[in-house]
Amino acid sequence: MSSFPLEFDLTAVPSAADERSDVRSEARTTGPRTGAPLPATDGQLALQLPSELPHLSIAPEWKDQQRLWGHSFHPMCSYLASFPAGLVHAFIARYTRPGDVVLDPFSGRGTTPLQACAEGRIGAGNDLNPFAHILTAAKVDPPTKAAVKTRIAALRLAWAATAGEWNEIADRIAADPGSPEILAPGPGSRPIGGTMPARPDAAVPAEVALAFHPRTLAQLLFLRAGLDPDDRTDRFILATLTGILHGKSASYLSAVMPNTFSMAPRYVRDFVARTSFHSPERDTFGLLDDKIRRLYRQPIPAARGIALLGDARDSGIRFREALRARGLPERARLVVTSPPYLRVVKYGYYNWLRLWLLGYDASAIDDLLDDAHHRDAYLVFMREVLRGLRTALADDAVVALVIGDVEMDRGRPANGGVGLAEAVWEMAAAPEGYRLAGIALDDVAAGRKMTKLWGDEAGQATKLDRILVLSTTEAGRRRALNSASLPIDWTWPPRSPRAL
Ligand SMILES: C[S@@+](CC[C@H](N)C(=O)[O-])C[C@H]1O[C@@H](n2cnc3c(N)ncnc32)[C@H](O)[C@@H]1O
Repeated sequence: MSSFPLEFDLTAVPSAADERSDVRSEARTTGPRTGAPLPATDGQLALQLPSELPHLSIAPEWKDQQRLWGHSFHPMCSYLASFPAGLVHAFIARYTRPGDVVLDPFSGRGTTPLQACAEGRIGAGNDLNPFAHILTAAKVDPPTKAAVKTRIAALRLAWAATAGEWNEIADRIAADPGSPEILAPGPGSRPIGGTMPARPDAAVPAEVALAFHPRTLAQLLFLRAGLDPDDRTDRFILATLTGILHGKSASYLSAVMPNTFSMAPRYVRDFVARTSFHSPERDTFGLLDDKIRRLYRQPIPAARGIALLGDARDSGIRFREALRARGLPERARLVVTSPPYLRVVKYGYYNWLRLWLLGYDASAIDDLLDDAHHRDAYLVFMREVLRGLRTALADDAVVALVIGDVEMDRGRPANGGVGLAEAVWEMAAAPEGYRLAGIALDDVAAGRKMTKLWGDEAGQATKLDRILVLSTTEAGRRRALNSASLPIDWTWPPRSPRAL
């Protein structure tokens, strides 16, 4: 087996030119559902903005906490541009009480709703990316540890009974990677102890076949065909599998790429051809057991949350419907969210291997998401999001928007990335009637992982995150100001349960 070249992280990333050519960049000028026309913005925007907005002194104490501060479900799977659980805690502790609703319309891997549930609040997350939705749902609506163990035991038995067939398929695929003639059962097509709508059998792409040892691939094909993402326990297992799918240590199933993001498919093919790389054999069930043990180190969250799949622009109405359906308060007292960065992350492309496991097409996801906007279209988008959210906010709700200022756009100085938080206030929040409590600064790159995407630009990608703290009423603004510097308890897990 060949070992990783040291430059592995930095070389396989598509070039700026590759990236630029296939990034969707058209602007939307009206919301698909809200529909109302929005004022045009133009390239002169930066000149019109106030240079100084009120500062809000929320000390970024989350930076002083241990790397894995927060509930043990958080590190289930790596996710680009996620924020730390401690940041969410800083707002939950100051602005909510147990039983309050906390929302995140861009929930990503579910950091806000999970931490809210773990602190006895009702955490509700929404994301348009089905991968994010699976991660969020797995965390806020988890099975008991006993249910997971029972299910894995049943899966092992079913595997033992059928391993021969799966190994044979995997061996044929490994002998001729990428052959369109060799079909493997599709995701969910061979339910283990349940029923699911079957998806057709399909060829396994060469870059998937090359990423795994044939024995490991056989187990993955078996689990992929047998697990049901609509079942709480199966979804938790699938989400956990995405987290151990690839990485550089022996706790991952493929050693061909780092854990943080998928290397380009072409890179995987070229790398394997150039180095005769063979992924080491890894036992999927054993590594799954280990990861499940780590995830369940702490008791499951005190409250059960909500995970929605959809566009942030109409998430307000959907949050309310979902909360009402569960007999919960319909309006939130807190929103903690980080909207997509400006033209930085392609969640489909950088997660293609995980998406293969889940049965999704990576480029279709990139076409769907709002991560590719230029500044003006982004501001229109943010205005629509803030408009749609209002319906789900309590009168004194506090809204914290974590906005990354992007100084470099794929290796080049960003056009319009600087001062983005101020622009969001001026062009998106103020016109929708929000009040500004202030802007807090978070001076460490939120995306240390993301700087890896640019290699040489490491450290220059995101200089500063700004946290725009908003409300919809004067009462909310005063609440945001008055509690901003309240001392909070950073003991985790909490000594006394922060339960409902
Ligand atoms: C910066 S990430 C959020 C990360 C999150 N705070 C976490 O800790 O994991 C932005 C998210 O916005 C999602 N997104 C992009 N366009 C969207 C849209 N129109 N509606 C809802 N979510 C969207 C992306 O899928 C991504 O998960």
